[in-house]
Amino acid sequence: MGAPYVLTNPPKVALIGGGFIGPVHAEALRRIGVQVAGLLDITPEKARPQAERLGIPRVYSTIEEVLADPEIGAVHLASPNNIHFEHAKAALEAGKHVLCEKPLAVSSKETSELVKLAAKHPMQAAGVNYNLRFYPLAQEMHARVARGDLGRILTVTGSYTQDWLLMVDDYNWRVEPDGHTNLRAIADIGTHWMDLAQFITGRHIEKVNADLATFHPERNRPVGGAETFTGPNSTKKASEAVKIETEDYGAVLLHLSQGARGVFHVNQMHGGRKNRLYLEVCGTEGSMVWDSESPELLWLGRRGAPNQIMNRDPAILSAEAGNFSHYPGGHAEGFPDAFKQLDLAFYTFIQNGCKGTPNFPTFADGDREVRICEAIADSAKAKGWVDVKE
Ligand SMILES: NC(=O)c1ccc[n+]([C@@H]2O[C@H](COP(=O)([O-])OP(=O)(O)OC[C@H]3O[C@@H](n4cnc5c(N)ncnc54)[C@H](O)[C@@H]3O)[C@@H](O)[C@H]2O)c1
Repeated sequence: MGAPYVLTNPPKVALIGGGFIGPVHAEALRRIGVQVAGLLDITPEKARPQAERLGIPRVYSTIEEVLADPEIGAVHLASPNNIHFEHAKAALEAGKHVLCEKPLAVSSKETSELVKLAAKHPMQAAGVNYNLRFYPLAQEMHARVARGDLGRILTVTGSYTQDWLLMVDDYNWRVEPDGHTNLRAIADIGTHWMDLAQFITGRHIEKVNADLATFHPERNRPVGGAETFTGPNSTKKASEAVKIETEDYGAVLLHLSQGARGVFHVNQMHGGRKNRLYLEVCGTEGSMVWDSESPELLWLGRRGAPNQIMNRDPAILSAEAGNFSHYPGGHAEGFPDAFKQLDLAFYTFIQNGCKGTPNFPTFADGDREVRICEAIADSAKAKGWVDVKE
């Protein structure tokens, strides 16, 4: 039997944002024995039916009410990106653990302030929900690179593609500028890819050269807004044409530490690709490929021997990766399981008194992603290479 994965006496959680991803947090938390005690959404009227649907007992009206609730020990921020900073800051100052959705905030001014604040509160866990790291085969790739199976890492390449913003009628808060980098596809899905590439290779992105494109210079905004991942103005609400400045597509050349090179592209208008991350690492001794559309398979490439396809199976995973896989081979683990594993890492760290090195993405990782985004935005404007600021 492995380590227990239902925690004893974990802190109770308030969930901020009950839209698309909030319920995924609620479900993952329940699976590891963490109680979701309350929900804050933009208004109590919006929160109430969602809280009922999810069986969350309390609805809050303001963040102040959440943070004054002595029952709450941790907050999960699953609201739009431009609200993360204010809520993460207030929650840390109020003594709560914080697990924030990605990106951590919209500028490095904000993220660096959050990193400093988290350092002042070492007994509070502060994480960012880069959940893709917690697919068992992503952990396997990380373990194989760390023990040198691939030799010297030469390149990391790939893409993150979706089609939910393909049509001119597709609209979401994400397409609106955030007032800082004004990046969308890069900040929304590109940061997932870059976090995973850096986690797997153990190399930092140091320099970028980016090309961005906005294929729909205008979109039709439904009056009253549109929900995430709901398809083209499906309710046929009245709409108004608005100018779009955020990118639908981005391609970025990368220089990573230790001489590695990389390139990736993101596209939120790629018909048929619902939500696909593809990542390929190549080294002097071999290569590996992982595709989130077939997350149970890892391709292993060799020059002097037949290539292999490895199924996720705790019986044959590296010990480190096996810790993040709870079901036998052939019993698929996917998106909700990755959330469960990240939450388990986060709350186990808390249960152990916030000691040692966190094994989940921290505010420092979230800050790094935003600084890379700023370099990408500058590079696209300057049409050339830009260093990521330390
Ligand atoms: N890790 C992942 O796989 C993943 C996937 C999707 C979204 N996300 C991230 O999660 C966050 C939310 O995305 P989403 O797709 O769920 O968006 P969404 O629009 O579906 O949901 C956001 C929710 O936050 C609420 N909200 C808005 N302003 C608020 C405020 N001031 N206080 C409290 N609640 C407020 C909205 O009413 C809505 O219910 C974003 O940061 C996004 O990048 C992460």
